[in-house]
Amino acid sequence: MTGKIWLQLIGIFCSLKDSSLEETGVLDCLDKEPDYRYLVYAGEFVYLQCSPSKLLIKAEKNTVEWFIQKPDRSLKEVKRRNDLIIHDNGALQISTLERNHSGTYLCRMKNLCRKMIVRVEGKENCSTYGPKSFFFRITEAPTTLSCPSLSCQGDIKRNVTWYRNETFANVTSKNRFSVKINNNDIQFSELFTEDVGIYTCDYVFHDSSEEEWIMRATIQVSVDIPDTEEPPKILSSSNGTEIPAELGKPTELKCRIHFGYERYFNPVIKWTVLHPEVKVEHSGGRNLCLNNTSGLTGYECLFTIKLDKVTKNDLLTIFQCYAQNSVGNVTTTFKLSKKESDVVFLIYILSASVALLLVTLICAGTVYVYWVEIVLLYRHYLSKDETIGDNKDFDAFISYATQTSEYGEEITDNFCNNYEDERFATQLLPSVLEDNYNYKLCILERDILPGGAYVEDIAKIIKRSRRAIFILSQRYITGPRLFELQAAITCSLEEQDSLKLILIKLKPFKEPESLPHIVKKALRALPTVSWKGDLNSKPAHTSKFWKRIRYYMPVKKCKENVRI
Ligand SMILES: *[C@@H]1O[C@H](CO)[C@@H](O)[C@H](O)[C@H]1NC(C)=O
Ligand SMILES: *[C@@H]1O[C@H](CO)[C@@H](O)[C@H](O)[C@H]1NC(C)=O
Repeated sequence: MTGKIWLQLIGIFCSLKDSSLEETGVLDCLDKEPDYRYLVYAGEFVYLQCSPSKLLIKAEKNTVEWFIQKPDRSLKEVKRRNDLIIHDNGALQISTLERNHSGTYLCRMKNLCRKMIVRVEGKENCSTYGPKSFFFRITEAPTTLSCPSLSCQGDIKRNVTWYRNETFANVTSKNRFSVKINNNDIQFSELFTEDVGIYTCDYVFHDSSEEEWIMRATIQVSVDIPDTEEPPKILSSSNGTEIPAELGKPTELKCRIHFGYERYFNPVIKWTVLHPEVKVEHSGGRNLCLNNTSGLTGYECLFTIKLDKVTKNDLLTIFQCYAQNSVGNVTTTFKLSKKESDVVFLIYILSASVALLLVTLICAGTVYVYWVEIVLLYRHYLSKDETIGDNKDFDAFISYATQTSEYGEEITDNFCNNYEDERFATQLLPSVLEDNYNYKLCILERDILPGGAYVEDIAKIIKRSRRAIFILSQRYITGPRLFELQAAITCSLEEQDSLKLILIKLKPFKEPESLPHIVKKALRALPTVSWKGDLNSKPAHTSKFWKRIRYYMPVKKCKENVRI
C-alpha cells in the first residue's frame, strides 16, 4: 500500500472500490463471516493476533497489515500510534481500549486474511474486575493469578485459556516448571524475572442472542526486585592500570562494568580520551549491557574502544571509563604503556643467551688454562698429605738413559746429547723437586747401592715409589733402560692407585718398530710433559713445566721455599 489512502465505502456493494484494496483481497475478506468475535473491556490493554499459533518468520513481518472498519463502514489501515502498535509477529496491540475501538478488524498477511469483530464494553456488568496488573515480590511465591474478567458474566464455570505476551506463547512448558494452570488460575510455585510479562486470558461466552464471543482480558505481571542502592562497579581493571601496547599496532581498551538491578535501568557509560591537547568522548547506554540470567544480580556491560594504530601521542593519553546509574557514578583511568615488539624482545633474549654463553665459555676457558694452578692452590691450602701412611719410601723413581751403557760406541757420536739426559735427571730434577718442594727422589745410581739382581731391584724400588718419572729421548727409547718403563707399566697395572707414571719428553724421538706393544700404548695414554727449557740457564721452577710436574706429583705438605 502506498500513501495514506482513506476510503469511503458506501455499503459492501459499493461500486467505488479502491483498486489496491481489491488487489490485496481485503474487500473479499470483509465479505466473509468473522473468524473471531472478541469482547473486551474499556480501559484495558489487549493484543489481537493475526496468526494465533505460529510466530511469523522475519521476512513476513512487514507484510502484515491491519485494517479497521468503523461502525460508519469506513475502512482504514491501522497505522502505528501511541496506543496502537503492530508487533514483529503481526499482533496488534491496543494499549488502552476505548469504546471507539469497537469495529471490524481485518488482518492480512501473505495469503491469509482474518476478520474479527471487536466489541468494547464498559465494566458496569462486572461485580468486581480483578486487578489488571500484579506486582509480585520475588519472595511472595507461591502465588496465583486469576483472569480479571471472570465476574463480568455471572458465576458460570468457564474454561479459561492463558497466553503470554504478544507472541501468544504457551504459559506452561517444560522449561517453566514453576508455572502450572490449576482451576483456570495460573500458579507460580516460584517467581523469576522471566515470569514478567502480559498474560492474556480467553474464555468463550454466549450473549443473550446466543452469539458466541471470546471474552478477552489481560493482566500485567511484574516481579518486584528492589532497585540497587549501589553505584556501578568497574570490573575490568583497577584505577591507573597500564595496558601494554605496541607502537604502530592496533589495540583495544575494554571497560567491563557491573550495574545492580534497577527497574528503570538507564545507565550512562562513557569513554573519555584525554589527549594532551584534545578531549574526545564516546558514549554508550543499555545496548552495551547483558541482563544476567537470573536478572537479580543486575546487568553486565562492556564498552570497548579500538585504536587502529597506537601512536606516541596515545602513550601520553589518559583513557577514562565512566559509568553511572541512578545512585551514582564511578570512573577508572587507563594508560597505555609501551610494549616492545616481539622482534625486539627476541633480540633481547638472544643477546642475553649469547652473553651468558660467552661468560660460560670464558669461565670454562679460564678454568682450563689455569687448571694446574687451581689444583696446586687447592692442594696447598686444603688437600691432605697423601704420602702419610702409604708405606712407600720414595716420592718418585727417576728412570733415564745413562751415559754408561752397553751401546757405548754411540756415546762418542752424540756425547753432548746423552750427557744432557743425565744432567736433567741427576741435577736439575732433584734441584727443583727435592730442594724446593721437599720430594724424595730415587735415582738408581745415586741412591741404590750396586749389587743384587738388577731386575729384582728395579721391581722392588718401583713398588717403593709413589711415582715413576721417565725421561724420554731417542736414546732412552732405544736403550736398555726402557725395561724400567715396561716394568713400571706392569707394576702400575697391578698396583692401580698407588703407583703413577709421569713421562717427560726431554727431546723429540722416533718410536722404533720393535717397541713393545704395551709401551706404545702407554706412550699415548700416560701424562706427558714436554721439556722446552735450556739446561744451561738457571732452573725456572715456577715455569709451566714444573707446575705440571708438581701437578702429577703426590700431594705433600711441606714447608715450601717458594710460593706458587
Ligand atoms: C450487561 O447488562 C445489561 C443489562 O443487564 C445487558 O443488557 C447487557 O447485555 C450486559 N452486557 C454484557 C456484556 O453482558
Ligand atoms: C559523579 O559523582 C560525584 C559524587 O560522587 C558527583 O560530584 C559528580 O557530579 C558525578 N558526576 C557526574 C558526571 O554526574
